[in-house]
Amino acid sequence: MPKDFDSMEDSNRSANPSIHEVSDPARRAVLRGGAALAALAALSPLAASLGGCASPGATPPSPTLGFKAVPPGFGDQLVVPEGYIAEVIAAWGEPVGVPGQMPPFRFDASNSAADQAVQMGMHHDGLAFYPLGSSRRGLLAMNHEYADDGLLHADGMRTWSAEKVRKSMAAHGLSVIEVEQRDSGWQMVRPSRYARRITMATPFDVGGPAAGHPMMCTAADPTGRRVLGTLNNCASAATPWGTYLSGEENFSGYFVGGDTPSAHERRWGVRKDSWGYRWQEHDERFDATRHPNEPNRFGWVVELDPMDPTSTPIKRTALGRAAHEGAWVAVTKDQRAVVYSGEDARFEYIYKFVSRDRIRPAGNGLTAAQANRELLDHGTLYVARFDADGTGRWIPLVHGQGPLTAANGFADAGEVVIKTRQASDLLGATKMDRPEWLAIDPASGWVYCTLTNNSSRGVGSNPGVDAANPRANNTMGQIIRWKEDGDFDAPGFRWNHLVLAGDPANERAEARGNVKGDFFACPDGIAFDRRGVLWVQTDAHATQMYKGEFTRIGNNQMLACDVATGEMRRFLTAPTNCEVTGITWTPDGRTAFVNIQHPGETPSDRSDPADPRRFSNWPDRRPDGRPRSATVVIRRADGGVIGA
Ligand code: FEO
Ligand code: CA
Ligand code: CA
Ligand code: CA
Repeated sequence: MPKDFDSMEDSNRSANPSIHEVSDPARRAVLRGGAALAALAALSPLAASLGGCASPGATPPSPTLGFKAVPPGFGDQLVVPEGYIAEVIAAWGEPVGVPGQMPPFRFDASNSAADQAVQMGMHHDGLAFYPLGSSRRGLLAMNHEYADDGLLHADGMRTWSAEKVRKSMAAHGLSVIEVEQRDSGWQMVRPSRYARRITMATPFDVGGPAAGHPMMCTAADPTGRRVLGTLNNCASAATPWGTYLSGEENFSGYFVGGDTPSAHERRWGVRKDSWGYRWQEHDERFDATRHPNEPNRFGWVVELDPMDPTSTPIKRTALGRAAHEGAWVAVTKDQRAVVYSGEDARFEYIYKFVSRDRIRPAGNGLTAAQANRELLDHGTLYVARFDADGTGRWIPLVHGQGPLTAANGFADAGEVVIKTRQASDLLGATKMDRPEWLAIDPASGWVYCTLTNNSSRGVGSNPGVDAANPRANNTMGQIIRWKEDGDFDAPGFRWNHLVLAGDPANERAEARGNVKGDFFACPDGIAFDRRGVLWVQTDAHATQMYKGEFTRIGNNQMLACDVATGEMRRFLTAPTNCEVTGITWTPDGRTAFVNIQHPGETPSDRSDPADPRRFSNWPDRRPDGRPRSATVVIRRADGGVIGA
């Protein structure tokens, strides 16, 4: 077994940072560790060759990027370039529009759990637009990554009850809403026959090799094929067959373990000191000492057909179990699906899944979503190894091959995917700096992945730097990219870094990076628009912002990148202590939808609680000031294509 690393992401809002409560010990521990770091490692030769520190103006401005950059943001507002309009819709608590069930949001947070189950969840993350006939009307499917119980309930967590647990669970999951562009701007269509909430009470089917596996069976579900709910859904993507893929990211912290965790529980971070959701006090399935298989039923990529409000969502176990950020689909020349995913935790891995079958077109009375209902249940899962010479290999996770045998704790194919981390450890895959979003360049086929940061790299007995993860105490993050040797199902690839993030003014070499254009830190969301511009969203943590190496970087932001030149241009700066995450466009490219998550998140570092930059009442601006995650709709005043 590997060392029992603290594998949780270190800028993790899943830790339920209540505005009324002391935040979680995991984050404080990380903060202490970060303060103690001193050892610096040199940039790898490969990374250094990629550019060194850029100076402003070193690269001619890209003609592909047609907007004037905005400066770094330090206020509690959202800023977009001149000539652009940003409007807020679908904030937490707005009724999604289920016919006959549209309770209004109450700003004192006195809505019931039943209300919350038909209102927008908390902490919007990935989202995708599904047009309904034109670019002026469609569905938005989106994730609600986690709940902040301090904001969710009128009196926070001061008292605790079964009703609060139900409300917290109802604030998680997914939403499907209908939106339309009217003369007055984009609005939610309510009621809508498509409107839907997926919460911790929604039944899911289980597909793939872990379906029905003994490690998936519980007292409440002896079949191991029916799971209630999805949680910590982070990034998302639309598939070519019209469904929505969403990653169950940091699931372990919702479960409370015992004094003597098994090796399996240790590897997955199921601990006695969980993240403080306190669900187990009123729902015993989150007590892993009583229901040790329940955590195995989370950590999957889930698939939803947003066009069919009666469809049952599915956990796709063939894609492997992980703290999945999300999953993104490429298509081979012979029409098989290749699904890339990563695991946002320190020293975890990047995966790809290649489907056995071809993507089927709609027909015979079936939509494409229905025709491909089992596509992601059959295929081969691989894990990435990045070699120092700029090449890489995809190593198959196939039961019976190599070390993945019963003698090593893998009884069958189901156990391989339930124990994806342990399998990847044995296969010698590369331990990455927290893989977040991936994006596939539609023009070139290069695949991009954000590695948001890893302040533990090279510290103590943790893994040191390698070519792909070239900075110790990596506070700033990087974007890596690779091109398969042939089609997307190829066994090998070549890779390099698009950029090492950072501020060129920083004293520490490892925090400067090589950004061309506007500097930034902690890349997270990325996506290509139809013009081939890569949009990059950041998620620096509230404990880091406004000081030290982050002093000049300011609030989290969204930049546009011309990948041909590497130029980064800052397009949007966000309100105080939020992250910018998730972007999708209408097919005509004239409207973008972006999510703003956890404005005003309280940092666990309260060293300067009077600092006004730490607080937010975005977007409602009410004096009682309860900030809300929300979707921002961005248009150009002249109706043009975003970013052009
Ligand atoms: Fe939920 Fe890895 O961001
Ligand atoms: Ca987040
Ligand atoms: Ca993220
Ligand atoms: Ca993040």
